Amino acid sequence: MEKLIVTGGTPLQGEISIQGSKNAVLPILAACLLGEGPCELENCPEIKDVEDTLHILRKLGCQVNQSGKTVRIDAETAAGYEIIGGEAARIRSSVLFLGALLGKMRKAVLPKPGGCAIGKRPIDLHLAALERLGAAFSCEGEAITAEGNRLHCGTIRLGLPSVGATENSILAAVLLPGETRIEHAAQEPEIDELIRFLNLRGGKLQRMGDAIVIEGGRCLHPVRFRIASDRIVAGTYLFAAAAAGGELHLQNYAADQTLAGVLLQMGGICRADHLGGMHFQMKHRPKALPGIRTAPYPGFPTDLQSPLMAVCARADGQSRIWETVFESRFRTAQELQKMGAEIFVQGNLATIKGKARLHAASLRAPDLRGGAALVVAALFAEGISEISGLEYISRGYEDIGADLCLLGAKIRRHESETR
Ligand code: UD1
Repeated sequence: MEKLIVTGGTPLQGEISIQGSKNAVLPILAACLLGEGPCELENCPEIKDVEDTLHILRKLGCQVNQSGKTVRIDAETAAGYEIIGGEAARIRSSVLFLGALLGKMRKAVLPKPGGCAIGKRPIDLHLAALERLGAAFSCEGEAITAEGNRLHCGTIRLGLPSVGATENSILAAVLLPGETRIEHAAQEPEIDELIRFLNLRGGKLQRMGDAIVIEGGRCLHPVRFRIASDRIVAGTYLFAAAAAGGELHLQNYAADQTLAGVLLQMGGICRADHLGGMHFQMKHRPKALPGIRTAPYPGFPTDLQSPLMAVCARADGQSRIWETVFESRFRTAQELQKMGAEIFVQGNLATIKGKARLHAASLRAPDLRGGAALVVAALFAEGISEISGLEYISRGYEDIGADLCLLGAKIRRHESETR
């Protein structure tokens, strides 16, 4: 079992380039199934979720070639529509193959989706949206079968602005002749990356506020596309500097208004550079946040809630965080409490009384972002912390330990025999 061994107490200092975005690349990989010829993706993050998704594409019959961060996918030979088993059950985003396979093959068989244990994560909105386009579903055991012989364009109105349901609707609709309209669609930047990818291939998709209009049925061509920087990884490293103190320069990511606003409120100094990067400095102990709630974009992202909680554990004063997106995302609190953090959870509200120092502890990542939050906390804790459960963290971070070491943190990987 691998662990990260983190020696706390060193402020961060330096410059870093942010990896490609997990949440942008996953729907784009599913979109590579559609249309003609090969697609070449640059800046693909080398993370477990991408590895698993590439396996799924291979199982479906795609030719997949990977050279470092460049991945070439040719779906010309893809004839499969079943993705039962192994990696498909493990990753939540395998559900995106539902829309892509319906669009391409008019049929799909896939497992009920997996992913992080951060809530119930149903897929009712995905199914209801695709039903509006004429899909029919049946469930047997752990598998979902989708039939799309009667697919047609139409208007979808999502009950919630679900990221995955929006992406699935786009993937199912882009090859259907006629106009499809998705109302109350999610507005996360990763969806705009999917739209940009499909438009570069010859599609005609347009965002109009919280609606997306798709003029479907156009041919999709081969393309070379660069995956954007991961805003959640960038946010994690900014919060690491906010908690541990120091100064860092992100070469290829500038925080959006919401994230920059939170960093400023906590006493940080943010400055965008003219090359799309940013500079961040935290000179003293962070200030507490009296009240913040997670929300769909452009609100504060639920994926950064756990790393933010780690900063609040150090902040001067009492912070309150409301988690409004995923109901089980406070499991990180229990691990932070092992380090002496004072966190009180009541339903979807966490109240955190900051302490100048936490103490080191032996910790286990509860999920992907919770694992990253423990690394952030260990950076400012007194002593040497051990963090296990790296299989979660590697789903979304290429190498969080090496990245933070570049910024002066004292982190090493340790392979141990025991569990
Ligand atoms: C995506 C992101 C994830 C992020 C989340 C919210 C990817 C690969 N993952 O996940 O990192 O945390 O957006 O920004 O992009 N819901 C339903 N029924 C459904 C679908 C969702 O009730 O059919 C609920 C969920 O339980 C949750 C909320 O809607 O409470 C938002 O989920 P959604 O936006 O769909 O998240 P994901 O696409 O799974």
